[in-house]
Amino acid sequence: MAVLTARPLNPAAIQCACFVILWIGLLCVNVGINGSGDLGEKLGANQRDFDYFHLALQWPGTFCRRTRHCCPTNGCCRGSNAPAEFTIHGLWPDYNDGSWPSCCTGKKFEEKEISTLLGDLNKYWPSLSCGSPSNCHGGKGLFWEHEWEKHGTCSSSVTGAEYNYFVTALKVYFKYNVTEVLREAGYVASNSEKYPLGGIVTAIQNAFHATPELKCSGDAVEELYLCFYKNFEPRDCATKSNKKSCPRYVSLPEYSSLKMANDGNEVSESALDSDI
Ligand SMILES: *[C@@H]1O[C@H](CO)[C@@H](O)[C@H](O)[C@H]1NC(C)=O
Repeated sequence: MAVLTARPLNPAAIQCACFVILWIGLLCVNVGINGSGDLGEKLGANQRDFDYFHLALQWPGTFCRRTRHCCPTNGCCRGSNAPAEFTIHGLWPDYNDGSWPSCCTGKKFEEKEISTLLGDLNKYWPSLSCGSPSNCHGGKGLFWEHEWEKHGTCSSSVTGAEYNYFVTALKVYFKYNVTEVLREAGYVASNSEKYPLGGIVTAIQNAFHATPELKCSGDAVEELYLCFYKNFEPRDCATKSNKKSCPRYVSLPEYSSLKMANDGNEVSESALDSDI
């Protein structure tokens, strides 16, 4: 250091110093864009970056059978406008060993960040209950808040910040239309038909060249998972034993609003009528 103050720097040394400063600057910018970078500091306590994605989809016909009361946020309460195809539960980063990171940054959900997406989110990513799931800050909030804070913050190395996480999930959902694939194979909503689980899996394997996972409630399909590499090419889901809950023949229940109580103003006229 004494050398630096005693003598003026020669041009070569100045050039070199500038280079180092520029390089550090670029590194910072890069880390900022990636959201996590190599430094790991933006990932939650000791959580390494994830291996692959689950796109978790919900079958509304199964979820909405449980609806006993209504609220504005519950997609099951929209009567004839209730969702009739698989809707999004979340885009989840996972580890190959079956575990997953959660609550990876301190970032809080901001609804205004996704205000331009609310039309699509209400339609394709609705909550199917009136519960308020936990966020990562000791509170409770919107379904989207839970999904972003708990899962979305852990995939920021790929999906970026909040807005981009939701856009990415929607894009993947639009591209891999499970409802359409099943419909083309003859698997449509029905309260009387039972379908072979193997047939459903095969239809998706043929369409997307990867093996999905299913979760059932009794024999009713409750959730379906598509898995993706970090570049969103489809891959097989790693079979987790806790999700092997489906019998050999499963059902895709039709949406029914018959059992809803009318303590919310979101219940359609027809639903009120059928309650009486
Ligand atoms: C999926 O495909 C069906 C046609 O089979 C279409 O009605 C529906 O809008 C599609 N869903 C999405 C999210 O693109």
